[in-house]
Amino acid sequence: MKSTGLHTGEVAPGVKKVDPIIVADHVSRTFGGLTAVDVEHLEIPRGAITALIGPNGAGKTTFFNLLTGFDTPDTGSWEFNGQSLAGIPAYKVAQRGQVRTFQLTKALSLLTVLENMKLGAKDQSGENLFQSIFPFLWKKKEEEIEAKALELLERFKLLKLKDDFAASLSGGQRKLLEMARALMSDPTLVMLDEPMAGVNPALTESLLEHILNLKKEGMTVLFVEHDMHMVRHIADWVVVMAEGKIIAEGAPDEVMANEAVVDAYLGSHQDTDLGVVTGRIQLPEGEA
Ligand SMILES: Nc1ncnc2c1ncn2[C@@H]1O[C@H](COP(=O)(O)OP(=O)(O)O)[C@@H](O)[C@H]1O
Ligand SMILES: [Mg+2]
Repeated sequence: MKSTGLHTGEVAPGVKKVDPIIVADHVSRTFGGLTAVDVEHLEIPRGAITALIGPNGAGKTTFFNLLTGFDTPDTGSWEFNGQSLAGIPAYKVAQRGQVRTFQLTKALSLLTVLENMKLGAKDQSGENLFQSIFPFLWKKKEEEIEAKALELLERFKLLKLKDDFAASLSGGQRKLLEMARALMSDPTLVMLDEPMAGVNPALTESLLEHILNLKKEGMTVLFVEHDMHMVRHIADWVVVMAEGKIIAEGAPDEVMANEAVVDAYLGSHQDTDLGVVTGRIQLPEGEA
């Protein structure tokens, strides 16, 4: 067993982390008779890149929504940076430094790239009173927000598109914009839901670089991804969900050689999405 330095004790679902940024307990969410999420205990290591993988319908997106306050669980509690987040609305979760990316909705596509970025700024909610009493201060703030947006757009190579409608961006450029927008609020934890979906291979490399850079800058990353090549390449830790539960976690190579994980992918869930995934799980010689 290789040591990742991230966990303490034997590797198993729910294993304790040396320095967890998120600790979740008994988080469950049902839709009618379906249990979409049923997480007993999970800790996400700080300062690392953690991949959340699992077959379609495993509950990954629902779990993201719960952790970020966009959905409410039936049971459970969880902490971010040692503070309980249960019942905290999404915009406050983001203010505390935990942000998730969003796919560009139709409405946001009708805004320009720069306008989308400004929407990501941290202090925009609940400051109307402040704005109306001190318009000169707000002006300064607005200039700062714009400067920051332009800087991030440059870094993500989107600057020359700043006045274009978001709708006109390619799939890959949208993903870059989603990531850049998330950084407007100076997050400590960035959660990415399928950052590579619909991205052509030419942009894949640059997206990977951007994610690795988040870690270099001291941020923690938690991402959902189907592309096992990407998971292997950039994840420090992998958590596997199936039917709402955490069925495995550990270092990428070890998790991908784990029989329960392979079973979860090879099981009854034979849709095209999984075909791609299983095709890319490489088992060590003799263990397949
Ligand atoms: N709003 C909802 N209403 C009803 N069922 C839902 C809803 N959201 C998700 N589900 C169901 O919950 C399960 C988990 O979905 P999801 O979290 O999207 O999985 P994943 O992201 O791992 O593919 C699926 O069976 C899905 O159909
Ligand atoms: Mg999903």
